[in-house]
This record gives sequence, structure tokens and C-alpha cells, in this order.
Amino acid sequence: MQIVRTVSELRAALGPGRSAVFVPTMGNLHEGHLSLMRLGRSAGAPLVASIFVNRLQFAPHEDFASYPRTFEPDCEKLRSVGCDVLFAPDERELYPVEQTFRVTTPHGLGDILEGQFRPGFFEGVATVVLKLFGCVQPAAAVFGMKDYQQLMVVRRMVTQFNLPIGIRAGATMREADGLAMSSRNGYLSAAERAEAPALQRTLQALAQRAAELAGEYRAQAPSPGEAAAARALQALAQAERDAQAALAARGWTPDYLVVRRRADLAQPESGDLLHGDRLVALGAARLGTTRLIDNLEF
Ligand code: PAF
Repeated sequence: MQIVRTVSELRAALGPGRSAVFVPTMGNLHEGHLSLMRLGRSAGAPLVASIFVNRLQFAPHEDFASYPRTFEPDCEKLRSVGCDVLFAPDERELYPVEQTFRVTTPHGLGDILEGQFRPGFFEGVATVVLKLFGCVQPAAAVFGMKDYQQLMVVRRMVTQFNLPIGIRAGATMREADGLAMSSRNGYLSAAERAEAPALQRTLQALAQRAAELAGEYRAQAPSPGEAAAARALQALAQAERDAQAALAARGWTPDYLVVRRRADLAQPESGDLLHGDRLVALGAARLGTTRLIDNLEF
């Protein structure tokens, strides 16, 4: 594996072709990242990874300074999955001047859910991803489904800017007890680590309740009527509140636990309940000082 620190070294390593598959990361790699690398590798094209902890996507009170930086073990892991080139620029290389041009993400996507609770986060992500795409010029890039909304933001950005890059989604990797793998899991104390799978379990319960409500609504087809639609949507909103309360009762501080449409992360309408495969449950909550996110399509 070639390790390159500058854009010119990267260009020299990649040559004139634009066939690479790219997996951007912030390092502290775990099995979730490696599964994205393997997915990228399966295309048979050169595999490029990046490690860059992107200051732009952290709010001042967030963990930019303490974000785990584990460069040597990360390199070993990347070698083990057959990564060809690692691009690991420092801040002066990627942001040689203040990054005054930014990608503004759209209302209704960039400012809901994660964007509501982490203002500026998606602007920071989209800006660095666009820059990294410009540096690597890949044919395809891989993003994890654990960051469901991030994946959607990147897909929409690529479409709207006509970037010739195929975006692939890698499934969320989980620990044996169901906890989604994340670099931030390392912040959890032993007691918090034991509690952490409750986020996924609560999302499962919410998804199950939502599926029941959708089933009851469908059972009234072909013409359930407006009153039935309103009842179903109210019951769904109640199920979301119950999920938040259940997690809060266990000592969490939930930001959101919601059911949204997979297509655009908008609140479902009654028509969405008529189909069995249109919804996703998404959650974010703090356990102690660690903020965890997860999701479940159903
Ligand atoms: O998902 C991440 O690790 C980051 O948000 C990304 C995509 C590497 C951009 O910094």
C-alpha cells in the first residue's frame, strides 16, 4: 500500500486513469470501515482510502480535538484488506487557505435529524467529500448505511453536481449484541457499553410498531379513508414519543427516534403506509457524553 500525504503524490500514484474506488474515512478504523473497503475492493479497481479528521464537520463543542487518531494500526488494517493507496493529508494540505467556498446542503435534508442537532455538520461533510472527490477523482465511492442521512446527502450532491462517481452503500456492521460499529463506541465506559445496544433494540421495537400500524391501515384497503389515515399517522407519532420515552427512562438523552421515508427522510404520509418497503427508523441519543446514531430499514 502506498501512503501519500499530498495531492500531487496522490495524482502520481494514481496515474491518468479515473477508475479507482474510493472509501473516505476519519480513521480509527474498525470492522465497519473494513467491510466498506472489501465492498470497494470487490469491483476489481484500484482501492483508495483516505484518513482525514475533518474540522469543518465538528461544532466547537464537539470532539474534534479528542477524536481518536490511530494512524499506524489503521495502516495495518488497510493493508490487510488490500488497499492500494492511502491518502492521508494534513490540514495544511487539504485546507491550505481558509475554506470559504462551501457546499450548502438543502433545507429539508441538511437541516433535519442530524442536521438539526448538529448544525453545519452536513455542510462540513459535503464540502470535504467534494474536495476529496476532486483529489482522488474516483469512478466510485463507498459510504456506510450507518450514516444513513450522510449517504443521502452525498448521493444527492453527486447527482446535482453531475459528478461522474457511482455511490455504493455498505451495510452497517454490528457487534454480537447488535450495537452498530462506530469509532465513538470507544468512548463508552464498560457500563455504557453494556447499555448501548438498547438504541438498536428501541429502533427495532419502533419499527415493529410502525409495521403493525401500517399493516392495520393496509387491512382497511382499498379505501381506508381520511380518518383512518389521520389515526394511523397520529399513532405513529405516538410510537415515536414512546420510543424516546423508553430510551430516556433507561438514562439516555435522545435527540430523535423517528420513522421516516427512505426516499427523502420526510415524515411518512398515509400512502407510504400502503407499501411494505418505504420506511426507515432512525435514532440518535446520548449515553453519558457519547452520542450514538443508528437506523433500521423496514
Ligand atoms: O463518515 C465519515 O467518516 C466522514 O463523515 C467522512 C465521510 C469521511 C467525511 O469526513
